[in-house]
Amino acid sequence: MKSIISHTSDYPLKNSLETLHHESMEWLNEIAFWEDEIDLLYMISMKVKMDHITTHIKDQVVKTERKLVSKIAGNEMNDLQGAVTNHEHIIQKGYTDEQNYREQHSKLHIRFKQYEKELKQIKQEVVRLLKITKDQASLNEVFGTIYNRRAVIKYQNKPIEKKIIETIIDAGRMVPSAMNKQPCKFYVLIKAETISLFSKQIAKAASKGILKSGLKKIIKTATESFNFSHGLRLLRSEDPIFQRAPVVIFLTSPKDHEWAALDIAMFAQNMMLAAKSLGLESCPVGLAKYVMETEVYKFLNISESEIVQLAIILGYGDEHPDLPKRNKVDAVYF
Ligand SMILES: Cc1cc2nc3c(=O)[nH]c(=O)nc-3n(C[C@H](O)[C@H](O)[C@H](O)COP(=O)(O)O)c2cc1C
Repeated sequence: MKSIISHTSDYPLKNSLETLHHESMEWLNEIAFWEDEIDLLYMISMKVKMDHITTHIKDQVVKTERKLVSKIAGNEMNDLQGAVTNHEHIIQKGYTDEQNYREQHSKLHIRFKQYEKELKQIKQEVVRLLKITKDQASLNEVFGTIYNRRAVIKYQNKPIEKKIIETIIDAGRMVPSAMNKQPCKFYVLIKAETISLFSKQIAKAASKGILKSGLKKIIKTATESFNFSHGLRLLRSEDPIFQRAPVVIFLTSPKDHEWAALDIAMFAQNMMLAAKSLGLESCPVGLAKYVMETEVYKFLNISESEIVQLAIILGYGDEHPDLPKRNKVDAVYF
């Protein structure tokens, strides 16, 4: 029988060992195949266009690729290949100790199976992620923006051009509104000192006037109903209202408008998506409505008939939060 290791010589093989020898050869073939397979998987995942993929999935892809690469680059595969090759060399060298060969073979068998199992898990993970990225990428840019928008509460110290703010507000104007009443008005803070002053007063008003239970408690209560980790990050931040964002936009509506809250939510979402599509981050700030309880409120010159529904903060992000858990609520069809 011809050895796979030496293509030049034949060697005698005891019949009793033929099956084991074939198994070793299968392992070597398998290892050679894994190398190609991993190369290919790696190439595909590098080629996947990540533009429209959610940050959360992007991070997972990167992590899994690292695992995949370390499975080859970490020499584990080479060592295994070397061990199997040496094992077969024993036969080639006219070996006699069958017992020893069998013992070594069974140890290699365990090692091979273990490696195969670990590799399979990583490969399955890569394939799962590639499938998700393929699904997400096949959607369009709008979906990419929707999936990637996060409530961001860490911003770079970088102003936003007025032209861009106007573009974002204009995207707000494009929303549907009940009876097309377009009830939203926009009040924009762009100076750091003004934002900081408003933030302090709103924090005080929120903690003092309304719930009388301390700002931390209010923020905790308010954010617990949004998202736990978001709440924790908020509690630790220096400016828990406006997060030192360079732009704050108060959205107001007439007090007596039945559909105001729904309309304002639409304005806000359009603006946040528009911001995201322009490379900016945002966060809705429900607590901003307490601005009406502050002394600085009068500087905004908001009419008596108006009410502040919400503010959104905008800025160039300085963090990439994971997607907070989303409930899978099945639609009910009739
Ligand atoms: C009406 C509304 C009010 C919110 N108020 C606040 C707020 O006062 N402070 C804050 O940091 N986040 C606020 N958020 C952001 C939510 O905490 C955030 O959207 C949620 O945790 C989900 O995270 P995501 O937007 O990244 O998907 C508010 C969101 C909405 C819709």
